[in-house]
Amino acid sequence: MTLELRDRITTEGVLSALGKDQKAFFVEVKEEIMSTNTQLKAAGRNGAADGTVLIARRQTAGRGRMDRRFESPEGGIYMSLLLRPGIPVEDILYMTTLTAVAVAEAVEEVCGIHPGIKWVNDLYVGNRKVCGILTEAVFDTDGGLDCVVIGIGLNVYAPKEGFPEEIREIAGALYGADEREEERRNRLIASVLNKIRQKSFPLDKRKLSIDYKNRSMVIGRWVTVCRGTTEREALVLDINEENHLVVRYGDGAEEALSTGEIRVKLQR
Ligand code: BTN
Repeated sequence: MTLELRDRITTEGVLSALGKDQKAFFVEVKEEIMSTNTQLKAAGRNGAADGTVLIARRQTAGRGRMDRRFESPEGGIYMSLLLRPGIPVEDILYMTTLTAVAVAEAVEEVCGIHPGIKWVNDLYVGNRKVCGILTEAVFDTDGGLDCVVIGIGLNVYAPKEGFPEEIREIAGALYGADEREEERRNRLIASVLNKIRQKSFPLDKRKLSIDYKNRSMVIGRWVTVCRGTTEREALVLDINEENHLVVRYGDGAEEALSTGEIRVKLQR
């Protein structure tokens, strides 16, 4: 059997791993999609139901934050979940933090591996990024929130040929290319979906903030804050209630950073 056929993601496998909880989701698995987020947002505009899940075995134009590309070779999980959560627009950010905690817990449950969260939405194992999250909103004609699409890219198995040169220093995977175990990815997907649902209804912001901070790998560390072309070193003091990163620069000035155009690099 080729590597690709071992631990294959299938609709039946995900549904079976979801068990009785499968009625909350409409799961579709495709061999190859440009971007599951782009496709699911279009479906959302056409009325796709709350709980629709689109999964690709590989993406040809996977998208990351800040218009970056997300490498999506066979071996990972590339999934998007559409929710109609009925929350105010300003609460959308909680969907991202909630998902970061949910994926970290699912990886622990299924794989026994403990990822840390790098503000705002990357999961790391050691000093390697293993997962990125891209949450996108679709608005109705009145500017209200129509639906949210949460995209998750999780590097489960390292690509046989290694990660591309540009991300080789940063990207990592939960397992080596040939460490495949049957049904692992279907179980991971099911666990992620269940945990997102449990944490969203009802949304407990206080608990979420505690869980998120407990997994943070930036608090107490020096980072480089990148804003446009400028870079400044700063010590991370806290992540506040609004999920802003509270930092202190070398000159003693403090600032609460919101996600927007800011990127934070860990210092090794
Ligand atoms: C990031 O690291 O900047 C976020 C990456 C998000 C990647 C996932 S893979 C599934 C979904 N479809 C996409 O095109 N992007 C997200």
